[in-house]
Amino acid sequence: MERNVAFVNALDGPHAAEKLIYHALSMQDGGILRVDLSRVQKVYPNGAVPFAAALAHFKRTGYRIDTGGASDEVRGAAVFSPGIIDDWDGTSHVTNRVWEYSTPGQANALTNALTRAIEDNVECGRGVIDSLTWCLFEVLDNVFQHSRAGSGFVMMQLHVRSRMAVVCVSDTGIGVLNSFRESRTNPSSDDYDALKKAVQERVTSKPKNMGNGLFGLIRVVGINGGRMEIRSGRGSLRYEDRSLAGEVAPSRPLIDSTEHAGTTVDWQLKLGNAVSLGRALATPRPTPARLESYEDEWDRIVLSVSDFEQEIGSRTGAEQIRTRLINAIADSGGSVILDFDGINVVSSSFADEVLGKLVLARGRKFLDAHVQFANANLTVLGIIERAIVQRVREGDLEHPAREVP
Ligand SMILES: Nc1ncnc2c1ncn2[C@@H]1O[C@H](COP(=O)(O)OP(=O)(O)O)[C@@H](O)[C@H]1O
Ligand SMILES: [Mg+2]
Repeated sequence: MERNVAFVNALDGPHAAEKLIYHALSMQDGGILRVDLSRVQKVYPNGAVPFAAALAHFKRTGYRIDTGGASDEVRGAAVFSPGIIDDWDGTSHVTNRVWEYSTPGQANALTNALTRAIEDNVECGRGVIDSLTWCLFEVLDNVFQHSRAGSGFVMMQLHVRSRMAVVCVSDTGIGVLNSFRESRTNPSSDDYDALKKAVQERVTSKPKNMGNGLFGLIRVVGINGGRMEIRSGRGSLRYEDRSLAGEVAPSRPLIDSTEHAGTTVDWQLKLGNAVSLGRALATPRPTPARLESYEDEWDRIVLSVSDFEQEIGSRTGAEQIRTRLINAIADSGGSVILDFDGINVVSSSFADEVLGKLVLARGRKFLDAHVQFANANLTVLGIIERAIVQRVREGDLEHPAREVP
């Protein structure tokens, strides 16, 4: 009997659903699947959502299930009986609980309610709410477009103090590899290969679709400095710190690998960080060959401040860096990332020569529109901000002093 008890200690990652699936598959006919979540305190979307999706699948397919053991946290998150947004009265919380949706109308209602929760509770960077809303629309809709599952599951958590939004969407449908298997244009060899295709721009398994959804998600996450993971079948793909990684885990238990390989998309955004959705979705213009060596894997132009080792302590040489930056902006047709990775502090002279003078000559709007700082710590940002304010106030030989905006 004990064999059929799925003890889960935390809903804090994919292992919880895997344990449930493992137990369900190893059950004898006619047995009862007992699920014990009485000790669970940690409930995160990437644990709760795939667990709820798998459990709902087993219920639907006739398993006898005893969900007696549940902690308050598990009940609060509605893991055993996910909410339906049509029944929501608008007064109880919409975050921190699992929802099941089975129509596009429900998906939209959920997206709107979750967006509202952010709007009302967290001070957000520019564009980040729109970007998150867009990502929710796309990922929720993919369940209808591609999974063949009857419904999808979603949960969002807001960490107000750290200003993070954590979202997970899961289904027990055919999975990404199977959806590509039937595609003439983009067949894939394994689960990880299929995931790598799925996140590329304009790569889709359906001729009528655009192949934008997961590409846009990963771009938004990248620009924002957040992270994301997609798991489907036995594959997983992670994106964090602007790098992709992933693998196939041959021993991962699946409900079944043809009809119910399942797909889970989970991501986190830093709500304080600005994201321009327009920029995230813009097709990069062809880059002049001279800038190619600066490109990262998303075709963005990145200038690494650490390459200017000699100059960051002084004004000497910094003028050339400013000029190089301005030229890179002109040729990129969009914006350039100034990457401070590995830099703990820069001199104020450097900050003044490169960025103070840039703002004096071109204006703050120009800087905001065309230069993004990556990996800059608070000290560096503080030095830069101060240098800009001082330089604009001072003026220089060619530019009169101005009012600080
Ligand atoms: N929930 C899912 N289940 C199965 N396959 C999926 C799912 N979500 C995405 N995919 C696969 O990933 C591909 C890329 O998705 P996406 O980037 O949203 O583009 P599109 O939806 O326009 O095809 C889809 O064409 C599909 O093959
Ligand atoms: Mg899509």
